Amino acid sequence: MTEQIERLRKQIVEFKSETLRELEDFRIRILGRKGELTALFDNFKNVSAESKKEIGKLLNEIKTLAQEKLKKEKEYFDNHDAEAGSLISDRTLPATADGIGSRHPISMAKNEILEIFTRLGFTVADGPEVEDDWHVFTALNFPPNHPARDMQDTFFVERNPDILLRTHTSSIQVRVMEKQKPPVRVICPGRVFRNEAISARAHCIFHQVEGLYIDENVSFADMKQTLLYFAREMFGENTQIRLRPSFFPFTEPSAEMDVSCKICGGKGCNICKHTGWLEVLGCGMVDPNVLESCGIDSKKYTGFAFGMGVERLAMLKWQIKDLRLYFENDVRFLEQFETVVV
Ligand code: DAH
Repeated sequence: MTEQIERLRKQIVEFKSETLRELEDFRIRILGRKGELTALFDNFKNVSAESKKEIGKLLNEIKTLAQEKLKKEKEYFDNHDAEAGSLISDRTLPATADGIGSRHPISMAKNEILEIFTRLGFTVADGPEVEDDWHVFTALNFPPNHPARDMQDTFFVERNPDILLRTHTSSIQVRVMEKQKPPVRVICPGRVFRNEAISARAHCIFHQVEGLYIDENVSFADMKQTLLYFAREMFGENTQIRLRPSFFPFTEPSAEMDVSCKICGGKGCNICKHTGWLEVLGCGMVDPNVLESCGIDSKKYTGFAFGMGVERLAMLKWQIKDLRLYFENDVRFLEQFETVVV
């Protein structure tokens, strides 16, 4: 027994812990309920009467030794940062603040668009990203062989019947009109998917905001005034707009809207390719076929719709030159938007 005690004494004297965890393991191994020293105390009852005094003294000595060692090691960790191993000399020093995140420019641009239209009485509507052919194409008056239905554009999940990733947020228009009777005034943000090669100007995933207004006597002039208000709120009060004739299967007539280039004030620069104008959205009067597909009487009701790319609007607003920056999550890019309050 004396031998065992001496071996334990050596262990205790030589023990040095690198971490608090090691120290705790040591405590359990020596002094724990099933620890080595506890076992020796349990054995004490078997010690012969004449050795009891001597062994008892040794055991008590070693117990004190172990307790003191634990206390000393613990004190060391209290004064040192266990992980860094450095001495904490001043506990009143302020802690280094964790950096706080900032909103992604896409979210900021999207929120700003939604805010502007909610001020005009539009409510926000949502729809699924995985859609069927009806909501993305057929109800929107796409002819059966329209190129947008093609594999080159659309990501199909299943064929016949076709299940696909929506290629535009116009599908939400259809969902809203199927459920809600006019008057309808909605703004629909969402992610869209197109099978395109990724470049500075295109991506296979991007964001759109769709707008829809259906009521009696809604005119092209209402659309123009709404979009002018939007452009001035988004790009500044002196912004001019122009509508160019265009084509979309779901609107008739259709137009594309340009805003005057706010970088050169319309004089012509690199950003507007020296035209003085920047294209920002597609719009038009909802085609009567679309209204009828969604169960709305096209003799009684008319309406306008518009759709815009959020990445593109944010690019114009903050002069971002490469679309890929939005998706790389490089903090050096994202940090630049911390002070932009929207
Ligand atoms: N869906 C069109 C696109 O993805 C954008 C668009 C154009 C939406 C005209 C509309 C609209 O509602 O009227 O390019």
